[in-house]
Amino acid sequence: MDGRFLNRVAVSALLSVTVMAGALIAARSIVPDTAPVTPVFRLPNVQTVPVAPFLARANSAHGGQLVRRICAQCHSLAVGGESAGPVLVDVTGRNIASLPGYAYSAALRQHSGQVWDDQGLSDWLMSPARYAAGTRMSFAGLSDVQDRADVIVFLHTLRTPSPTSTTGVAQ
Ligand code: HEC
Repeated sequence: MDGRFLNRVAVSALLSVTVMAGALIAARSIVPDTAPVTPVFRLPNVQTVPVAPFLARANSAHGGQLVRRICAQCHSLAVGGESAGPVLVDVTGRNIASLPGYAYSAALRQHSGQVWDDQGLSDWLMSPARYAAGTRMSFAGLSDVQDRADVIVFLHTLRTPSPTSTTGVAQ
């Protein structure tokens, strides 16, 4: 292997890189690199499902069972309870990520300024990770829209008791 041979190898390597770069530049200028305005296809189950018709026939008792079984692992259902997630009392109608003293993820804080209405809760509970990518709520989601409606109707019953009321917060 003499110097001239190595030289030839170096020159041919340089030449092929130059040709490839030239081809890439030419290809880019002929075919513009733009995304379509509307997605060509949608992944299943990503679209928002209107929850209102399911709320109309929702079963709060069933929602309560789901909440106690699933959500209560991470959420307190009574004010003052300590949990990994924010307290769910009064969550319906509350501003998103607004509970004082709770360290929300940046992902959920991106939605602050909006209110937890029924449709928002349904979208969130369908897939927290899709609603707020990077959320700390590591829960896959409730895929059944009727289950979500049942849960939401139950969440409406989790209210701070008014001073005059004798019925407390559902446990
Ligand atoms: C594995 C634990 C876990 C489970 C299970 C879980 N959550 Fe959460 N949840 C969290 C955490 C943590 C947050 C805070 C998320 C963040 O800051 O990104 C949260 C946030 C929320 C919020 C936003 C509250 C606010 O103040 O903005 C709602 C509403 C909520 N969860 C409802 C539910 C419901 C309803 C269920 C049951 C179907 C549930 N979660 C199940 C951990 C959980």
